[in-house]
Amino acid sequence: MALQRTFSILKPDATARNLTGAVNAVIEKAGLRIVAQKRIHMTTHQAQTFYAVHKERPFFGELVEFMTSGPVVVQVLEGENAITHYRDVMGATNPANAAEGTIRKLFAKSVGENTAHGSDSAENAAIEIAQFFSGNEIVG
Ligand code: CMP
Repeated sequence: MALQRTFSILKPDATARNLTGAVNAVIEKAGLRIVAQKRIHMTTHQAQTFYAVHKERPFFGELVEFMTSGPVVVQVLEGENAITHYRDVMGATNPANAAEGTIRKLFAKSVGENTAHGSDSAENAAIEIAQFFSGNEIVG
């Protein structure tokens, strides 16, 4: 087992419904430690950069519009195998397919408004963390 860090976003559907504390409770109960966290309003440029890998997808415009529609909470989570563990804790991208007890099953509204993002690889976690946090903002 390896201690890892992953990048998380609590999306605008979570902040709009005042659910950030409820989502954080699920994260912490799962054994992940929130070692950095801030509430921001993403600019269009930040969202386009963050989701650049999806820029050819038909939902890209909708995704950027949603992610800039209200505040988000960006986080760094730390724990054993944090990247895959957090993806398990979030559940499937589409809440209709998410397992019981997962963040998306509990809270997500749709595949677009799906409450949380988590990095999909160690390489992307490092890139995503660096987009939003400097080293001295992460306190493990
Ligand atoms: P996320 O983990 O943030 O990474 C890419 C996001 O694209 C994903 O979560 C979904 O919210 C979003 N997404 C994926 N498929 C669709 C879709 N068919 N329509 C709208 N958004 C989507």
